[in-house]
Amino acid sequence: MVGAPNIDDPSFLENPFPFYELGRAMSPLVLSERGLAMVFGYDDCVAILKDWETWSSRFPPPPEVVDPPEPMMLNSDPPRHTRLRSLVSQAFTPRMVAELEPRIRAIARELLAPALEAGSCDLVATLAYPLPVIVIAEILGIPPEDRAKFKEWSDEAVASLGTGLQGGGRQVRAEIFEEMREYFTAMTEARRREPRGDLISGLVAAEADGERLTFADLLQMLVLLLIAGNETTTNLIGNAMLAFLAHPGELAKVEADRALIPSAVEEVLRFESPVQATVRRPTRDVELHGRTIPAGMPTVVWLAAANRDPGQFAEPLRFDVTRSPNRHLAFGLGIHFCLGAPLARLEARVALEELLAAATGFERTTDGPLPRVPTFIMRGVLELPVAFRQR
Ligand code: HEM
Repeated sequence: MVGAPNIDDPSFLENPFPFYELGRAMSPLVLSERGLAMVFGYDDCVAILKDWETWSSRFPPPPEVVDPPEPMMLNSDPPRHTRLRSLVSQAFTPRMVAELEPRIRAIARELLAPALEAGSCDLVATLAYPLPVIVIAEILGIPPEDRAKFKEWSDEAVASLGTGLQGGGRQVRAEIFEEMREYFTAMTEARRREPRGDLISGLVAAEADGERLTFADLLQMLVLLLIAGNETTTNLIGNAMLAFLAHPGELAKVEADRALIPSAVEEVLRFESPVQATVRRPTRDVELHGRTIPAGMPTVVWLAAANRDPGQFAEPLRFDVTRSPNRHLAFGLGIHFCLGAPLARLEARVALEELLAAATGFERTTDGPLPRVPTFIMRGVLELPVAFRQR
C-alpha cells in the first residue's frame, strides 16, 4: 500500500510526479479510510471521462447549505449540463475567440512595455496574471473603469474553488456574490434593452429565448468563467516560461523558430498541466483492475499522471517542444472538455510570441523553489522573477 502523501503539502506541490509514477503502477488506489479513490493511467482516465453515465460530476452539497443552488455546468450531468453547455457555447464560439487575437496582442504588449525597459520583472505579476483577467473582462463586456472591481471578484471566485473534493470548495462569499449580483443585474438589464457584441448580450439572449437560462444560472456561469479561465491560463503561461528556463535547449529551439510556439504550448500543457486532476463519483460500484470503487466515492482522475503515461507517450519524462502526436488530457475529455481551450491556447501563444519577440537571455533572479498555488488540483507558481535583455 502506498503511504498516501499529503497532497496539499508544499513539497508534494513542488514535485508530485514520483507519486504519479508509483500510483500508475498500482492504479486504482482505493483509500477507504480517506473515503477517496485515485486513478492514474491514461486509458483508465480516458474511459472515466468519456463515461459520464457511470462517472458523475455531481457532488452532494455540504449539509450546512440550507437551500443549495442548482449546480454550475462543471458540476452537473446531462440533461442540465447539455442545456447549459449549448447555451454558453452559442455565445462563446471559436470564431469569436479567434477574432480577439489583435486585441490580446495589444494588451500583452502594453503589459510588457514597462518590464522591457527595466530588464527584469516578476512574469506572473506583469503578464501571466493580468492578461487572462483583462481578456475575459473584455469578452464579457465589462468597461475598463470597472476592471479593478472585476479583478476582486475574479480573485474571490478562484479562492472559493478550494480543492474541489467537497463539490467545488466553499461558496463565493455572500457579500461579494451580492455585489456581483447587483452589478450583473444592472448590466443584463442594459444589454436586454440594447444588445452589443459581448458575451453578456449573448447569454441574455439565451436567457430571453424561453425559460432556458435563468438569471441564477447566468450568474453562476459568470462565476464559472472566472474560476475556470483565469488562474488556469495564468499557470499555463507561467509554467511555460518555467519549463523553458529548466530546459534551455528546448527554449533555444523555440527562439530559433517561433512557429514552434503552438506545439511548445501543447507540450507545456502535457508536461506541466495547469489542472493536474479532476474529480468524479461513480453512480454504481465499479470494478477496475480487480479492485472495487464503491458507488459515490469521490475519485481523483489524475490528468497529469495520464499525461506522463509511457503507454501513451514516448519518453514521457522528456520535455519536447516538437512532440507529435501529443494527445494530452490537460483540457479534460468528453462532455466537460474545456470550453475555454481555444481561448487559453490563443492567450498563451500570443503571450509567448510577444515575450520572445521582445526579449532574450532569460534567467531566474532567485534560487530554489518558487511559491506555488496551494492546491494539488492546480499546478503553477505564484511568482516568477526573471531578468532578460531587450532584443
Ligand atoms: C490553460 C488553461 C485551462 C486549462 C488547463 C483548463 C482545463 C480544464 C479542464 C481539465 C476542464 C474539464 C474539467 C472536468 O472534466 O471536470 C475544463 C472545463 C472547463 N473550462 Fe477550462 N481550462 C483552461 C482555461 C479555460 C478558459 C480560458 C475558460 C473560459 C474562459 C475555461 C472554461 C471552462 C469551462 C466553462 C469548463 C466546464 C465545461 C463543462 O463543464 O462542460 N477554461 N477546463
